[in-house]
Amino acid sequence: MNTQLLQVLADGEWHSGQALADAAGVSRVTIWKQLQKLQEAGIELEAVTKVGYRIIGGLDLLSDSDVHRGLNGTAKNLMGELQVLQQIDSTNRVCQEAMSERAAPNKALVISAEQQTAGRGRRGKAWVSPYARNMYLSVGWQVQSGAAALQGLSLAIGVAVVRALQDVGVSAAQLKWPNDIVVGRQKLGGILIELTGDMAGPCSVVVGMGLNVNMPEYAQDGIDQAWADVYQQGVKPARAALIAGVLNHVLPLLQGWEQSGFEPWREIWQALDAYRDQPVNILMGDTRVAGIAKGVDATGAIQVETTLGVKSFHGGEVSLRLQSQG
Ligand code: BTN
Repeated sequence: MNTQLLQVLADGEWHSGQALADAAGVSRVTIWKQLQKLQEAGIELEAVTKVGYRIIGGLDLLSDSDVHRGLNGTAKNLMGELQVLQQIDSTNRVCQEAMSERAAPNKALVISAEQQTAGRGRRGKAWVSPYARNMYLSVGWQVQSGAAALQGLSLAIGVAVVRALQDVGVSAAQLKWPNDIVVGRQKLGGILIELTGDMAGPCSVVVGMGLNVNMPEYAQDGIDQAWADVYQQGVKPARAALIAGVLNHVLPLLQGWEQSGFEPWREIWQALDAYRDQPVNILMGDTRVAGIAKGVDATGAIQVETTLGVKSFHGGEVSLRLQSQG
């Protein structure tokens, strides 16, 4: 991917092949080949003979400095390393690798990217990650007291992401257990937490967050569930500002987590629960338990009122559906 060329075309204006070639100091044939590569990566280019090329609607590109500019003082202090990459397999994978090499206590290691070619979702699903449209963000943090201390963390992260969305004017965002960000019944984003190191002692947690911001039409076929994006909510925040906003909420949460745990987040999570008091099914393999969703307990487990009383469900294998959807 030729990022210099993309930066020129990002303005959405027409650029002649000759002007692009002159600016890059290469031949028109080389430019043409590079433009082809951009198209292959999913970037929607319009070409008109004797006029040139443009990206319809332009591109909202990310830069480290734009993200850094949006951070508040606390987040700046907690930031160890921030990298905005172009095209990579998965920000979680890159962040995990970086954490194993250079994790530092009380400092976040943050990886974002314009595009993921193998974005990871929960339960082995792929996360659709088109170029320069959405948010793909991973935050690595060192944990001293082992994996058990992380119970409920992904729920609290959901609250932090919703708050960042509220800051940019997305007021309809809510949460669906365990860690989907939704608008109504449509998924706006998701969270994938991965751990590396000694699960009983010092280890690293990588908090991966994906948000649909401006999903292009060409990527929509790859999504196998009802989805929403931020632009559909009537606001068009710059992605760098949105990323900074998420970090402003997530970094202090991580810093305080080993002391606070889930307890102070529980009521706030419940206030944002999109499925509260709704008839639901909990699916565990072939087993299905029907009941009424009753929020979460102090550990973050979902509580469901069933014919046999209130039952708690933990773990990543549980999914939630409205009864009407079977
Ligand atoms: C889900 O299935 O709901 C979780 C989706 C998590 C996607 C994000 S995008 C940034 C980070 N890198 C990944 O590969 N996955 C997470």
